[in-house]
Order: sequence, then structure tokens, then C-alpha cells
Amino acid sequence: MADELLAVPASRLPRHVGIIMDGNGRWARSRGLPREKGHERGADAVRTVVRAARRIGLSALTLFAFSSQNWDRPPEEVFHLMALLRRYLHEEREEILDNGIRLVSVGQTDRLPAYVRAPLEDLKAASAGNDDMILCLALSYGGRETITEAARAVARACLDGRLSPETITPEVFEGHMAPSRLLPPLDLLIRTSGEHRISNFFLWELAYAELHFTETMWPDFGREDLVAALLDYSQRERRFGRTSEQVAALDGRAGTKRKDAP
Ligand code: IPE
Ligand code: IPE
Ligand code: MG
Repeated sequence: MADELLAVPASRLPRHVGIIMDGNGRWARSRGLPREKGHERGADAVRTVVRAARRIGLSALTLFAFSSQNWDRPPEEVFHLMALLRRYLHEEREEILDNGIRLVSVGQTDRLPAYVRAPLEDLKAASAGNDDMILCLALSYGGRETITEAARAVARACLDGRLSPETITPEVFEGHMAPSRLLPPLDLLIRTSGEHRISNFFLWELAYAELHFTETMWPDFGREDLVAALLDYSQRERRFGRTSEQVAALDGRAGTKRKDAP
């Protein structure tokens, strides 16, 4: 079983994988269960996938767990999701700390209730010295909100005289976005449940990420699905605007097929 997790050669692995974990509600409905059951089984899938990602050797895994727009769901569902998050943080604490995983988060976590924020901040601090894998939870996260926040920070820097508009490059701008300070570039996005949209996830980071869509509902997503997505990724040629020939020449020179954005 463990071998299956090592099916993709390390040189062809993405460094940073993001997952839009979708389909909990439909998974439950198709079984005549309340949506909450779907979220609970979804939390089990999170456990499985984090374990597998660590074993496979990914550098970073970002899980889109709750979007800025998800606050508009019925209050009972929001409450259940928050309670589940709190439970997850408590139950996974030891495993995260023992396995060299550093927990970070992106999103407007100040909007989370204190009973989630406190264990979240606590585990982030406790795991800050770990460096085998980053587990990033996108909580109360929106891509547009994040870009807007960065634009605000850049505008402030210009007004303060710390930055002049002429010197703003994509790299400078990105430096004002929280994820870029913590995470390697996003290589692969996975979305479950057959939806083909981004739903306000990593809008900026997706510029050159590879996309993998699967019909599998998130509660059913397991190690085999992760491996299938990684195998799919390993077959892709990432050209970053160049030609195939250029990419081949660059890869030859680097002695590896894998490379990040130039
Ligand atoms: C994903 O599953 C979980 C969250 C968005 C929090 P959904 O709850 O969106 O499930 P569907 O899309 O309704 O099936
Ligand atoms: C995206 O799923 C957000 C998360 C998985 C946390 P949604 O279920 O909220 O997305 P839409 O509403 O179908 O676009
Ligand atoms: Mg959904």
C-alpha cells in the first residue's frame, strides 16, 4: 500500500498542491443523510489526505476548507463546520506535531469564532519549528479578498513613501500577499465533485498551476485519488509561455524534468 504512494518519482512531484474540497453536501444527500454527515466524512478524508501527502513528500498542501462566501450558508451549517474545525484542530494536534508538519493558515481568520481561532493560533505557534511539510488551511479565504488586501497594503506603502508606483512589479505585489510569504508556488490544483470552477480560491497563485478535476465527492477522496492526481500532474509539460523545445533544453540543462516558474 505504501508503495502506491511512491508511484510518482520525486523529481516529477508538485511541491505545492491546493485542493478545493467540494461535494460533502451531495455525498450526504445521495445517501439520504444530512449535509453535516458529509462534512464529518469530509474531515476524515482530510486526515487521510494529509497523511498521504506527508508520506509522499509534498512540501506544501493547502486545503480550501471554508470560503469568504461560505459565511452566507445557513447559520446551523456554519456552526457545524466551525465545531468540526475545532474538533479537527484538537484531534490532529499530536499527529501534526509528531510528523514534522507546520500548520499555517490563509484567509480572514479574525472572522472565525474564538473557539476556533484560539486552537488554530496555538497549533500554528506550536508547529512553527516543523519543516517537513506545510499544511495550510484556507479559512474564511477568498482570492479576491486577498488580492484586495494586498492592493490596500501596496497603496498604503505608496502613500507612506515606502514604495513608488513605478517600482510595483508582479513580484513586489506578490510580496504583499500572505500566501507568498509562507508557501512555495502553487503547482497543482485539485477540485473534487465534478465542478469546473475556482470559486474564489487562489486566483493569483493559479496563474500557472496545473488543474486536475475529478468527479469524486470529497468524502470519498482517498490516497488513490491523490496518487491519480499526482500521476496526471507528472505527465504535464509546464511551459510557462515558452515552446516545448525550449523547455526540453532547459530541463536537460537542469538535469531534471521538474522546474518552477522562471
Ligand atoms: C465542501 O462541500 C465543503 C465546504 C464548502 C465547506 P459542500 O458543502 O460545498 O458540498 P456540496 O457542493 O454542497 O455538495
Ligand atoms: C468552494 O466550494 C469552497 C470550499 C471548498 C471551501 P463551494 O461549494 O463553496 O463552491 P460553489 O459555491 O459551488 O462555487
Ligand atoms: Mg460545494
